[in-house]
Amino acid sequence: MLVSGQTLLDDAVRGGYAVGSFNTYNLEITKAIIAAAEARKAAIFLSVGGGALDYGGFAPLAQLVLAAAREAAVPVAVHLDHSPDVATCERCLGVGFTSLMIDGSHLPLEDNIALTRRAVEPAGGIPVEGELGGVGGEEDSSGEQETAIPMTDPAQARVFVEQTGVASLAVAIGNAHGVYKGEPKLDFDRLAALRDAVSVPLVLHGASGLSDGDLRRAISLGVRKINVNTEIRQALFHSLTQSLQTQSKGFDVTKLFGAAMKEMQQAVEDKIAVF
Ligand code: G3H
Ligand code: ZN
Repeated sequence: MLVSGQTLLDDAVRGGYAVGSFNTYNLEITKAIIAAAEARKAAIFLSVGGGALDYGGFAPLAQLVLAAAREAAVPVAVHLDHSPDVATCERCLGVGFTSLMIDGSHLPLEDNIALTRRAVEPAGGIPVEGELGGVGGEEDSSGEQETAIPMTDPAQARVFVEQTGVASLAVAIGNAHGVYKGEPKLDFDRLAALRDAVSVPLVLHGASGLSDGDLRRAISLGVRKINVNTEIRQALFHSLTQSLQTQSKGFDVTKLFGAAMKEMQQAVEDKIAVF
């Protein structure tokens, strides 16, 4: 069922766990994510970014994810990921998205606050996630990335949350999108300080490649939404590579993508089990 992202955040705060936010680009990834959530009986954010909406076409992809969420046997919030502008937020609100992210993290603090406020104001009860500090790397492709700099400053985070009215805050504590170069080193002292500085749930981006131990520790320090993209794409590419070598003769699309969906489902289930 389609639910507000605020419900998922509130439940996660009460329960002391994190809700998984999983990025989709198409039908197969969407089905795999929903199947994983249903198998684990877990609520999730079904997340689409600007790159995915460009790729799928706004109306077809938006309607696909909304329909999949409505049909799901578990609570699903449909989330706009890393929007660079207010217009995309408003467009998504208009078709029924139930969670938004505005990403002004590349801007100076005052400009980030101004942009984020402009996204929060028209959102009504729909929660808006803001980001402060720099989560490095690419959203839709995954070259090896350095860990993120600059990290989120707790004093600035307090001001940012108070002045924007965001429902959640994405933080930079050494996390990065894509494939980590070397072993990721998260700054857990900073995470604890951020938890103490702000009144809203914290969001961890760039979860692909982080160890289960690091993810659990982040959850114990107040992270209540965790974003995963790359590991799902890696499962997709792995499965397609295998399948094309062994079953290309029949040109059976349902078998090719059926196997890929199973592998992606497993990747998502593994993450939900930790969260
Ligand atoms: O917003 C989406 C994410 O932060 C995903 O990061 O591709 O490193 O898992 P990832
Ligand atoms: Zn992200």
